[in-house]
Amino acid sequence: MSVNRVVVTEFGTIAQFPDPCKSLFQRFFSYFNPFYPMSDNTPVAIIPVQDRLFACSETNILNEFDLENLDTLEQVKLNECMKIDSAAAHPHWEADGTVHGIGYCYKGGNTYTIFKVPPKIDSKGDFSQVQIVASIPAKNSYTPSYYHSFAMTENYYVFVEQPMKINLAKILTAKYRGVPLVTCFDWYENEKTQFHVLSRSTGEPVNPGFTYQTDATCILHHCNAYEEDGNIVMDVCAYDDAGLFEFAFVDTWNDPQKMKVHPWARINRYVLPVDLQLEEHLDDGLVSGNFRAKAKIDDNVVHCTVDDFSREVLLELPQINYPAYSGKKYRYIYGMGSKEGHGEIHTLVKMDMETRRQLIWYEEDCYPSEPVFVQNPDSQDEDGGVILSAVNSINDDVAPFLLVLDASSFNEIGRVKFPDVDRFVNDIHGIFRNEGAKK
Ligand SMILES: [Fe+2]
Repeated sequence: MSVNRVVVTEFGTIAQFPDPCKSLFQRFFSYFNPFYPMSDNTPVAIIPVQDRLFACSETNILNEFDLENLDTLEQVKLNECMKIDSAAAHPHWEADGTVHGIGYCYKGGNTYTIFKVPPKIDSKGDFSQVQIVASIPAKNSYTPSYYHSFAMTENYYVFVEQPMKINLAKILTAKYRGVPLVTCFDWYENEKTQFHVLSRSTGEPVNPGFTYQTDATCILHHCNAYEEDGNIVMDVCAYDDAGLFEFAFVDTWNDPQKMKVHPWARINRYVLPVDLQLEEHLDDGLVSGNFRAKAKIDDNVVHCTVDDFSREVLLELPQINYPAYSGKKYRYIYGMGSKEGHGEIHTLVKMDMETRRQLIWYEEDCYPSEPVFVQNPDSQDEDGGVILSAVNSINDDVAPFLLVLDASSFNEIGRVKFPDVDRFVNDIHGIFRNEGAKK
């Protein structure tokens, strides 16, 4: 803002001019290196590392912030802790404070790296204690897969290598061509989506020599995954193609015809058999137990079919009772949806993965944020708690409000109105932090 121009390349904007505040060498370097300087804008998600909170994006930069006043504290560069250039915006964290993340190294190595930050006893969470847990070579080092999250069960990691690819040649020439990073993705509709299944204890692939795959699918968010009957049950928000990325452009949002076909995800369930030696299951596929999703083996390829859970009501930005049910058998997903299955995204959805029924919150002119589940400390039920969502209305007579729903019935308990606020910033992901319990 001080020089009235874009000087750092972001996802949707390219820095055409070096920052005049930088030195001559820095400006020269930034002109030729599209990754330099790496944006330190971290608006996507929040990661708790024990008693610290970090804001993150998909770069290797994390910004710690103060919960009381939102001041920025320490900045962590993951590439100074390990050999990665970027990291997924959605790591996993366990109740004991352990954080599991995944990153990628573009400059040599060309591997996806799963890392772990162990909890420190009587000390602050610290990324310098990071441990490399597993390395997954990219199928094609010039076009690595785009990834935004990954799955973790009690014993396994699952990384999805999808046909949504990052074209490194396009990225390296982006500055010359004057195009933003979002234009540097390629969708390979004829490629399969591959599931890399790894042991959490050894970091080694499960059933080496076999490839788990499904048809081309674009996936940003994992809902949850767990183990049952010798399988890994994995639920994701899935798109048929990469059309979503066109909606990163303002021009698209200003085009009513394009907005009519706004792609939105449905919940896909895949069931990945871990024990491939179960001969009694070979006649009906490899999946034991009562699942609609199946898996067939052919020439060392385990092909997984999909169980499409939500054809009528689409759902994205999934949340569960986390971390209590993360990696464990669960029942409920909360998310943002679209009432008619397309068009603007303006409903909150509770998806029952047992009955396949949905509950919906909707109000005319209202645009809720991603729902956040907060457990009632006196309840043992998975959905015993409330849902929080920050809601904007396009009706000028309705002030922005924090909506509180009963997570079980999805009925409104109340709302906190903010009459002095014009409009909330539309957030992407949030978490609830129970600081009151400490005081
Ligand atoms: Fe996300």
